[in-house]
Amino acid sequence: MKISDRLKAVASFIKENANVADVGADHGLLEIYLINEGKINSILAIENKSGPFSILKNNLKDYDVKLSLSDGISKIDETVDTIVLAGMGGILINNILNSNKAKLTNIKQVVVDAHRDIKLVRENICKLGFYIEQEKIVHEKGTYYFVISFLKGHRDYSLSEYEWGYKIKEDPLFEDFRKEELNKLVSNLIKYRSSSKSTSVGIKQREEQIGRLEKL
Ligand SMILES: C[S@@+](CC[C@H](N)C(=O)[O-])C[C@H]1O[C@@H](n2cnc3c(N)ncnc32)[C@H](O)[C@@H]1O
Repeated sequence: MKISDRLKAVASFIKENANVADVGADHGLLEIYLINEGKINSILAIENKSGPFSILKNNLKDYDVKLSLSDGISKIDETVDTIVLAGMGGILINNILNSNKAKLTNIKQVVVDAHRDIKLVRENICKLGFYIEQEKIVHEKGTYYFVISFLKGHRDYSLSEYEWGYKIKEDPLFEDFRKEELNKLVSNLIKYRSSSKSTSVGIKQREEQIGRLEKL
């Protein structure tokens, strides 16, 4: 079975004996990998669309996995202590968690891999009563992915940490990421400056964001 480095990083963050709910399980590769590793206690694979759900059901028919055709975490029970939300946009991740806050009472760990709006995800999950335990950058098919583990509790973070990551400078891929991201931000700023819709506030915000990434 071929599993991506991104999903391997997600799996590596999950605690021993966890009772996992994987929201947006899709192909079920994470489920198969975690079961083969023998690390977790149980796993619930969740999909909200019937097409992907029937493929998921078929892929996992030989594995001890609970399946749920439901929206986000709306149907998880109190045995679940770990939520995985991988391969989704940050806004969707936040909506899934925010629309069922009561379901987070028994949750000890949330592991996410958001491909956009990662700052909003860090801010939101911290507001929901978690802190960032660790992060890992994965570079796959030309994209940098940030896999993040949150644990129950509270810590304060700087704007830079919400924006770029917690202890992210220690990651071996950070310098490569920073170089690429700075190029992107600078060319966006140049484009923005020459646009008729640009404002001095907008320019300042973009310059400050570039400054924070340079300074990290
Ligand atoms: C791009 S796939 C990611 C699959 C896998 N988690 C990964 O990281 O490779 C996102 C999956 O999330 C599912 N999804 C989107 N919104 C959802 C929701 N509210 N509840 C459950 N599943 C959802 C989609 O149907 C899709 O299969």
